[in-house]
Amino acid sequence: MNNYRIALLPGDGIGTEVLEAAWPVLQTVARQHDFTLEGTWLPWSCDYYHSHGKMMPADGVEQLKGFDAIYLGAVGLPDRVPDHISLRELLLAIRQGLDLSVNARPHRLLAGVPGPLRSSAPFDILCIRENTEGEYSGAGGRVHRGGDLEVAVETAIFTRAGVERVLRYGFEQARQRSGRLASVTKSNAQRHSMVFWDEMTDRVAADYPDVDVTRYHVDAIAARMITAPETLDVVVASNLFGDILTDIGAAIQGGLGFAASANINPTGGVPGMFEPVHGSAPDIMGKGLANPLATLWAGALMLEHLGESAAAADLMDAIEEVTVTGAGTPDMGGTLSTGELARQIQAILGR
Ligand code: NAD
Ligand code: IPM
Ligand code: MN
Repeated sequence: MNNYRIALLPGDGIGTEVLEAAWPVLQTVARQHDFTLEGTWLPWSCDYYHSHGKMMPADGVEQLKGFDAIYLGAVGLPDRVPDHISLRELLLAIRQGLDLSVNARPHRLLAGVPGPLRSSAPFDILCIRENTEGEYSGAGGRVHRGGDLEVAVETAIFTRAGVERVLRYGFEQARQRSGRLASVTKSNAQRHSMVFWDEMTDRVAADYPDVDVTRYHVDAIAARMITAPETLDVVVASNLFGDILTDIGAAIQGGLGFAASANINPTGGVPGMFEPVHGSAPDIMGKGLANPLATLWAGALMLEHLGESAAAADLMDAIEEVTVTGAGTPDMGGTLSTGELARQIQAILGR
């Protein structure tokens, strides 16, 4: 019987609530499919920062390498630890430390979920976000202090290897899906990095003559995701652009409580990290209001990545067997708590 070692990183705020609700559901689906998930809870968080002076142990990334996958809730409590510390030292440190260069985020409506758009045309977008460099590189930036002359510099770094690998992953996905790929830039304004991205797109596209490529500027594709999302399939974007587009993706699928995310290193050898797209939502924490579906969906992406495709499909089916009834948490217009919604899905899986 296969056993998978999973690092559980609940983090902060509703991160702990959604992960604690989702984990028993994953245990149930594993039992039904004759494999086991052995979870190790790691308390790395803003609380941890207050007692240890850092967000995770110095060898945290090394510790994570010993697991088969990482399942994360959300990080950040800006009233307690500044976001640029908590996120840089934990979430972004793991993405960069494990070289999880691809962040794949699917956006579609779950069965029965109306979504906010007027058009009922079904859409199924896979956003592939570059995940380790670009606008998030963190390199070389600083604030030059000095009265009226103060200037802040933030450096975006786009390496050939970094851009190529995320594009290549996108082309592979496009080939397995509809054969369409959208490459996102702002090359009408950013004349170095984004022109380079366009060049790399052409170069990689030459290896995929069967894939139909369309270039979009990020502002135009942001609008298109709302007015005509059914015209898009695989969307490849830089780190910051992908961050913004995937919150739009979440919005069109019904809200941040739905969108799931897979951080992976396509070359293998290190665990992937699976998490909801949303954050720790301090405005609703501690009230049982958080929607656990994004985290459960991320759990399905994790099972898929571990090679347990049948279990992943069963989990998605069980989620949709509930959403189709209209039941859900308050953000979905329902009355269920985080735990109640997760337990309804667990009950279907345990039948
Ligand atoms: P957020 O995603 O936490 O919340 C934005 C809005 O969406 C809030 O009104 C919140 O109540 C709602 N929301 C989010 N998830 C929900 C869910 N599952 N169910 C119902 N409603 C939900 O974004 P924010 O408010 O900008 O950030 C809060 C904190 O989280 C900050 O510290 C931020 O840096 C951090 N953050 C972390 C991650 C992560 O760990 N991956 C992602 C985004 C933001
Ligand atoms: C996300 C989040 C993070 C990001 C933040 C919290 C650093 O918004 O995973 O989408 O921008 O990558
Ligand atoms: Mn984001």
